[in-house]
Amino acid sequence: MSDKGLSRRQYLTTVGGTAVTLSVAGCSGDGDSGDGGDSGTERPTITAGTAPGFPPFEMKEGGDLVGFDIDLLEAVVSETEYSFEGWEEFEFDSLIPALTNNNIDVIAAGMTINDDRDQTIDFSDPYYSSDQAIVVRSDGDFAPESLSDLADRPVGAQKGTTGEGVVQDELVGDEITENQYNAYDNYVLAIQDLQNGNVDAVVIDVPVANTFAANRPVEVAFVYETGEKFGFGVRTDDDARQEALNSGLSTVREDGTYEELTRKWFGE
Ligand code: ARG
Repeated sequence: MSDKGLSRRQYLTTVGGTAVTLSVAGCSGDGDSGDGGDSGTERPTITAGTAPGFPPFEMKEGGDLVGFDIDLLEAVVSETEYSFEGWEEFEFDSLIPALTNNNIDVIAAGMTINDDRDQTIDFSDPYYSSDQAIVVRSDGDFAPESLSDLADRPVGAQKGTTGEGVVQDELVGDEITENQYNAYDNYVLAIQDLQNGNVDAVVIDVPVANTFAANRPVEVAFVYETGEKFGFGVRTDDDARQEALNSGLSTVREDGTYEELTRKWFGE
C-alpha cells in the first residue's frame, strides 16, 4: 500500500507521544439477520491488543496503526473461523493484564515467549526470532563492545520488556546503580532520550534497533544474544484461539503470505 521506508521514517521523526488506550472500531457487523450468503450462526471473535512505538512490528503513522504484527495477525485470523474485531492500544506492561481481564483476546506486540509470562498466559507457536541490541548515539564517542563497557553509564529500556530484564539481571548492581537505569513507557521515548544524551545506551530487540538506526542518528554497538522468540499471547484457558492461531500461522507460512510480509516490513 505505502512505501514502507518513507512511511516508517516519517513515523519515526514525527511521533513521540506515549501510547494511550484507544479503541479501534473494526466492527464486522453484529446484526446477522440473514442477509449474507452464510448461515445465520454468529462467528466467534478476536479483539487484539498491541503496544505501538515498536517499529516495524507496530507503530502509528498519521494516526493509523501499522506494522508487521498488525498485518500478520490480521492475515492469520482471516484463515480461521474467528471474525477480527479490531485493535486496542496499551503500554506494553499493561497488555498481559488486559488479556487476563478479557479486555482483549490476543496480544500481538513482538512479545517474547518466556517462562515468566508462561505462568500467566499461553502463547501461539513462535513467529519471529530476536536478540537484544545495545544501541548508542552514532557520533562515535561511546562504542561499547560488551555489557561491562556499560559500567557507570545511564542505560534505558522499555518497562516490562526482556530488554529491561537484561538491564536488571546483567547490569544493575554490577555495572550500574539502580538510579542509572531509566525505564520508559515506550521505546520511542527511550531512543529520544538517547539522542538527547540523557542515557548513553538503550537495550532493545535487534530488528527494532535496526529500524531506529535506519532513521535516526543512533546505531547498534553490539548484540547480546538472548535467542528470543515472539509469539501471540492468549489466555491460558483459551485452547480454541491458541489452536486457531497456530493453524492460521502455518497456513500463512505455507501460502507465501508470511514471506511477503517479512519482505514488506523488514526488506529483502
Ligand atoms: N520482545 C520484547 C519483550 O517481549 C519487547 C517487546 C516490546 N513490544 C512492544 N510492542 N513495545 O519484552
